[in-house]
Amino acid sequence: MKVLIVGGGGREHAIAWKCSESSRVTKLYAAPGNAGIAEIAECVDISVMDADKLVAFAKEKEIDLTIIGPDDPLVAGVADAFTNAGLRVFGPAKNAAIIEGSKAFSKDLMKKYNIPSAAYETFDNADKALEYLETAKMPIVLKADGLALGKGVLICNNLEEAKEGVKTLMLDKQFGTAGDRIVIEEFMTGREVSVLCFCDGTHIKPMASAQDHKRAKDGDQGLNTGGMGTFSPSPFYTDEVDEFCKKYVYQATMDAMKKEGRDFVGILFCGLMLTPDGPRVLEYNARFGDPEAQVVLPRMKNDIIDVMEACIDGKLDEIDLQFEDKAAVCVVLASDGYPEHYEKGLLISGLENFKDKEDRYVFHAGTKATEKGVVTNGGRVLGVTAKGKDLFEARANAYEATKWIDFDNKYMRNDIGKAIDEQ
Ligand code: AMP
Ligand code: GLY
Repeated sequence: MKVLIVGGGGREHAIAWKCSESSRVTKLYAAPGNAGIAEIAECVDISVMDADKLVAFAKEKEIDLTIIGPDDPLVAGVADAFTNAGLRVFGPAKNAAIIEGSKAFSKDLMKKYNIPSAAYETFDNADKALEYLETAKMPIVLKADGLALGKGVLICNNLEEAKEGVKTLMLDKQFGTAGDRIVIEEFMTGREVSVLCFCDGTHIKPMASAQDHKRAKDGDQGLNTGGMGTFSPSPFYTDEVDEFCKKYVYQATMDAMKKEGRDFVGILFCGLMLTPDGPRVLEYNARFGDPEAQVVLPRMKNDIIDVMEACIDGKLDEIDLQFEDKAAVCVVLASDGYPEHYEKGLLISGLENFKDKEDRYVFHAGTKATEKGVVTNGGRVLGVTAKGKDLFEARANAYEATKWIDFDNKYMRNDIGKAIDEQ
């Protein structure tokens, strides 16, 4: 069958790679893709937001299944455009992707259906938000309601910072209309875990757990980024936590969305915090995590096409989702300066070292093929993933493999997976 992948980051390369392993796929396309995806798929220069062109392309090429990777097109309703055109698509409809698109929506949903999360208030008026803060307990968390590239969350240690935060989000509009409404949330402590789940609207199946490292610098210092590295599984995600979440988070969310008339079909990413009082939802995303996909998909034993089709057909209960016992670690190679200012167009060497190497993968995030070779084309450039018999071996393997690649201004965190030393 012919498959189209919408997106061009590391997550989409991991999805494309996993599709390329399927015996059912005869031809892969990607829009717009990147230099790494281009090695396994035919890339077409169509924007992820251009629903009309994407649908026209899918019709012209007789695509059997389209997989939408990023949040922006899902929240904007690109999946709906495919469904309305009678085409098969993997990714939630707009009325379900709102679970990521509006934090106020997701918080209200959790409250209404008793899904464990932090206490909160929603404000669309800056004066009221400032007044509320005067008597609120610190630290406190401010969140822009809408999509803000993962940067619309401010952790404020005291009243001053919190007031400044309200100004940044609501008055200075640093994230545009995403900050017209904000959620002010109780600050929670604990280990963070990402659990990505396949959903068919009724049934939900969690994949292996993972942990992300969002800050730019070692020791969780520096600015928030899209993610600097991941490991899977999380040793802190115990069977007990899994039991609890299956009942009170995953299935509860699936049921809540159904009751609201917003059947969720696609990937529901549950960002959890394991607090002293039990697991709590930090956020939902309506898609695979990036770079969570880069550690979870290489461990998945199933044919991804079988699982995605089961989701679309409402038959996920018939799938036995299986993951290898091996662990995986992904270290992101970024351009120094990310997430602020960084250079593009720097020549990358050593990519060929990954060819035919078992359990070693290089997923392209921000790259471009040029006449002189593959060059950097974004802040996060590559994700180097390696597997091992346990997390320690996987981490050593991943860091060893980062040495195979070189480019000017290559930057990475040196403590991805450090948490496993503390378990
Ligand atoms: P989010 O985009 O909602 O996942 O938030 C980004 C990051 O902010 C999370 O990964 C957490 O590290 C942190 N965060 C969000 N909400 C809270 C909270 N209520 N308490 C503590 N930290 C939080
Ligand atoms: N790695 C976090 C995310 O994809 O949102």
